[in-house]
Amino acid sequence: MLVSNKEIQTAAQKGKYAVGAFNTSNIEITQAIIEAHEEMNAPVIVATSTSAIKYCGIEVLSSVVRTMAEKAKIPVSLHLDHGTDYDLIVGCIRNGWTSIMIDGSHAPFEENAALTKEIVKICHAVGISVEAELGRLGGIEDNISVDERDARLTDPDEAVRFVEETNCDTLAIAIGTSHGAYKFKGEAKLAFDRLEEIRNLVNVPLVLHGASSVIPEVLAKANKYGANLGAAKGVPAEDIKKAIELGITKVNIDTDLRLAFTAGVREILTEKPEVFDPRKIIGAGRSYIKEIVKSKIELLGSANKA
Ligand code: G3H
Ligand code: 13P
Ligand code: ZN
Repeated sequence: MLVSNKEIQTAAQKGKYAVGAFNTSNIEITQAIIEAHEEMNAPVIVATSTSAIKYCGIEVLSSVVRTMAEKAKIPVSLHLDHGTDYDLIVGCIRNGWTSIMIDGSHAPFEENAALTKEIVKICHAVGISVEAELGRLGGIEDNISVDERDARLTDPDEAVRFVEETNCDTLAIAIGTSHGAYKFKGEAKLAFDRLEEIRNLVNVPLVLHGASSVIPEVLAKANKYGANLGAAKGVPAEDIKKAIELGITKVNIDTDLRLAFTAGVREILTEKPEVFDPRKIIGAGRSYIKEIVKSKIELLGSANKA
């Protein structure tokens, strides 16, 4: 059944667990995400970026996700990830998205707040919940200055003011994660102190972007079958657990699914060179994504919370 992020994350906040927001851009990834959650009786957020919507076409992506979500017994949210374009946001509202992220995090506070407030007004009028972002994603390794660290991380007092001024439903914060497969040059380092301060001051559910772990077994499998992913490094599983204990209720994962797909497809192409049926090739990627999504459900604690 289709629901909003607000519904899913409010329940997660009460129950002290987190729900995964998994990015999709095609039929197979969507099937892997929704089937894994159905089998583990877990709620899920299916996330679509601007480029995923462009890749698939907005009507096609909407009907793929909505058809599967409507058939599913678990709560599913269809979420726009990092929305920045007004016309695309309106397109998503018209095409049945149940949750919108407005990402004004690149802009100064007042500009971000004004833009977010405007989108919240529009979305709330039609019953859609809104995620906003404050702070800049990016690593906070030892070599960055205290000033730069402060400029990146979400400021707790600003977060309070931002939520009050905008009336956003959920808030994405910056605590040292970044998008993609190369998150840390040295050891992973998250600003848990910041998360704790924000959690103590802000009531709305909190979101962690850039939360892929770059799972060592998946990376090893991809590399074994010919990938060249160098020094890829993600957020360790125990840090994700800690972030959830400190109040994160939505954990965004895209890179780990891309890596799983790559590893699965590379394996079948290498091990079975006689195969040329696209369904077998893409299907192998789909199966491995599904296995990885199930391991994420365990990690986040969302199993049996549907
Ligand atoms: O937030 C970033 C997501 O991983 C989406 O990436 O714009 O390449 O689809 P994308
Ligand atoms: P990853 O690149 O760590 O998977 O982050 C995805 C994300 O934040 C999507 O919004
Ligand atoms: Zn993100």
